[in-house]
Amino acid sequence: MRGFLLGVVAVLTIVPIVVGIWLGLMSVTTERQVQNLKAPFPVNEDTLLEGMRLYVGNCSLCHGLADGQPSPMAQGFYSKAPQVAADEMEQYPEGMLYWWAEHGIRFSPMPAFQNTIPSQVVWKTVMFIKSVHHLPPAVDAAWKAIPRSVVTW
Ligand code: HEC
Repeated sequence: MRGFLLGVVAVLTIVPIVVGIWLGLMSVTTERQVQNLKAPFPVNEDTLLEGMRLYVGNCSLCHGLADGQPSPMAQGFYSKAPQVAADEMEQYPEGMLYWWAEHGIRFSPMPAFQNTIPSQVVWKTVMFIKSVHHLPPAVDAAWKAIPRSVVTW
């Protein structure tokens, strides 16, 4: 009986430790894989212009325009949406930005786009976000000229 109880205690102790280590290793592997993901096209004026157009259509209502001011909808969020012009979204590796956009962020308004938008399109919005503070002059001018009426009344 004593041996049996010790066995149960040992299993109850060891199983969570093994599961914990396994989950830890899995998340390190996933994070590395995600960080190494790269855009499947060259980042240039054409793809950034396209990325800007797609960003404005799919992301700007929540992540804002060049003025860095949240839209009326974004002001009502809990949790807050980072503003692309003001909150350094580009600080993360492009693979992580892409991962979040594909999978969404749980318990927040950030949607998962993996079943609704082709991955090339998601990548283009992501590379626009990543480059937003060092855009080629023509793209920068187009970005700054987008009227605020796109995201507000
Ligand atoms: C309906 C609102 C909404 C839309 C549309 C939206 N997002 Fe988000 N997004 C959020 C919110 C809110 C967060 C912050 C979530 C959190 O951290 O709790 C977020 C976070 C993120 C993050 C994580 C990085 C960071 O700095 O927190 C990325 C990357 C991102 N969004 C990319 C995109 C892209 C790309 C699009 C368009 C294809 C998009 N989002 C469209 C609301 C939105």
